[in-house]
Amino acid sequence: MKGIILAGGSGTRLRPLTLGVSKQLLPVGDKPMIYYPLSVLMLTGIRDILVISTPVDLPQFQRLLGDGSQLGLSLTYRAQHRPVGLPDAFVVGADHIGDDSVALILGDNIFHGHHFYSVLAEHSTDVRGCVLFGYPVHDPERYGVGEVDADGRLLSIEEKPEKPRSNTAITGLYFYDNHVVDVARNLRPSERGELEITDVNRWYLERDAARLVNLGRGFAWLDTGTPESLLQAGQYVGTLEARQGVRIACIEEVALRMGYIDSDACYRLGVRIGPSEYGAYVRTIATELADGG
Ligand code: DAU
Repeated sequence: MKGIILAGGSGTRLRPLTLGVSKQLLPVGDKPMIYYPLSVLMLTGIRDILVISTPVDLPQFQRLLGDGSQLGLSLTYRAQHRPVGLPDAFVVGADHIGDDSVALILGDNIFHGHHFYSVLAEHSTDVRGCVLFGYPVHDPERYGVGEVDADGRLLSIEEKPEKPRSNTAITGLYFYDNHVVDVARNLRPSERGELEITDVNRWYLERDAARLVNLGRGFAWLDTGTPESLLQAGQYVGTLEARQGVRIACIEEVALRMGYIDSDACYRLGVRIGPSEYGAYVRTIATELADGG
């Protein structure tokens, strides 16, 4: 399975924060926002990942993450020239996807939860159709919304409905089979003038090939769309990290635990990061796991 992180757009609701920096490079706790979705793809077992952003911002992502080899990944980069909609990721990324299945994650989506690794592993093997991830929210009208019946079967999907049929938001993590490239290529813009991911998902739903996995309340799916929610996301991460002494979305640790790099390589990454607490954490983890911890 191939991975795509969509990290473009103009972050208008966060201005002036985003006038000089891409939204997905803003800090959430002690690390750039894109570390969180990148960790999710890495935990899914995906190592071949395309980062899509604006032509202006793309070099900054490249400077931050390079070719990914230091993490045992292959990272490539493609510009999206106009933010015409999320499904454009499959058109821009068609060569990258080839004839494989694909996981798309939005660069501003932050997930955290117990056993996420096993949820991802369970649903990413042998993807037929599409797999969507639902999360209960108090303001579903701001999102794609999924309605399921008593047996958990998906009945409808709507984009930002005025009168939502459920409180289940469809999060910005999607797994698709290879049909998605053709579906995206043939899509027409909605009334809002954008290509809608909800129309892609509806294409699968109409063929009885869409599944909705409910992440449920034991999970955190955090919003980063406004200055307040961005701050809250940072506080959530900081509070958990301080209390537990572990770090969320430390990409070096994820690479080590997933077996993408060995502990020596991880230690060297910690040295390269330098004297920050994050750098010290990476070095400590590398040492502990080298000792069989
Ligand atoms: O976060 C989950 C929601 O994401 C879903 O529930 C909705 O169904 C889906 O449409 C989307 O809604 P948003 O209102 O959050 O979409 P937005 O246009 O804000 O784009 C999400 C991110 O993707 C944002 O950080 C900017 C980036 N983006 C967006 C577009 C339209 C791109 O990189 N390129 C684009 O063309």
